[in-house]
Amino acid sequence: MLVLVKTIRFETDDVISIELTALGASPLPPFGAGDHIDLKLPNGLTKSYSLMNNPAESGRYVLGVLKDPLSRGGSKWLHEQLRVGMHLEISAPSNNFHLHENFKHTVLIAGGIGVTPIIAMAHRLQALKASFEIIYAAKSKHTGPFQDEVSRFGVPVHWHFDDEVAGPPDLHPLIKERVQQAACKLDECQLYACGPEPMLNAFLNACKDLSLQHANIERFKAIEVVASAQAKRAYTVVLKKSNKTIEVSPDISLLQALRHHDIEVDTSCEEGVCGACETRVLSGEPEHLDCVLSDQERLKNNVMMICVSGCKSERLELDL
Ligand code: FES
Repeated sequence: MLVLVKTIRFETDDVISIELTALGASPLPPFGAGDHIDLKLPNGLTKSYSLMNNPAESGRYVLGVLKDPLSRGGSKWLHEQLRVGMHLEISAPSNNFHLHENFKHTVLIAGGIGVTPIIAMAHRLQALKASFEIIYAAKSKHTGPFQDEVSRFGVPVHWHFDDEVAGPPDLHPLIKERVQQAACKLDECQLYACGPEPMLNAFLNACKDLSLQHANIERFKAIEVVASAQAKRAYTVVLKKSNKTIEVSPDISLLQALRHHDIEVDTSCEEGVCGACETRVLSGEPEHLDCVLSDQERLKNNVMMICVSGCKSERLELDL
């Protein structure tokens, strides 16, 4: 759908917020905490960004965009070329970072620009009058975006700025302390983290050590997932809806093979991070190489991310 760029604001030297509103009479679809949308940029790139405003608001989507020095044209284009009044093509909201609403206590952990989905989650938890707190980490007070928005929730916030203590937060003792102070059983507490890769790895390790099972993350970028020894280099894919059978050869990916046969598939990141290409598996055993599915979801083998994943069986049947 096409939307209007209503406002663009510099939040820090490297972060802008972008407010999008509907074009014409059709309203924007509603969204939930943790949802993201894909922006289809005029330079041909499609990029996913979390929605950070209150999910109860209708009529606008707000995104936060960090200018990535290694940008391939996504955040760079948005920072340098996007103007108020332009029209942008976006996808409907979707979610890989689902907020569960029935836990006794929630700890939200934000690292830098990873605060954007955390703010939407905090809005929702506040609307539910749920117990929650926030751990906010950034390189410095000067560069950390949306600190005012985080303060306004009026819940306990642990602020951490790397430059004040010469390093990133030690999440293990911090999480342990938060959970102990919340005085709830381990399985009554859920945690959500979004931020840079090292922070997410430290978060997952800390939750594992502390036996906290309800730990959820959203990654910005793909981590390298190595194919297993059972991965087939060549296999047959049966496409039920298209009524086609195609061969995937060792020199091409499944996505390339599908495109080669003019099969239309929705994609965004094409790195196994966003979930846009999730496809139902009807039979066969996928080789999951994405960062979206949990270990339990992988074991079910009923969906796969076709942009990066492959196959362990001779034959794979997909709902395409
Ligand atoms: S396109 Fe993003 S996970 Fe496949």
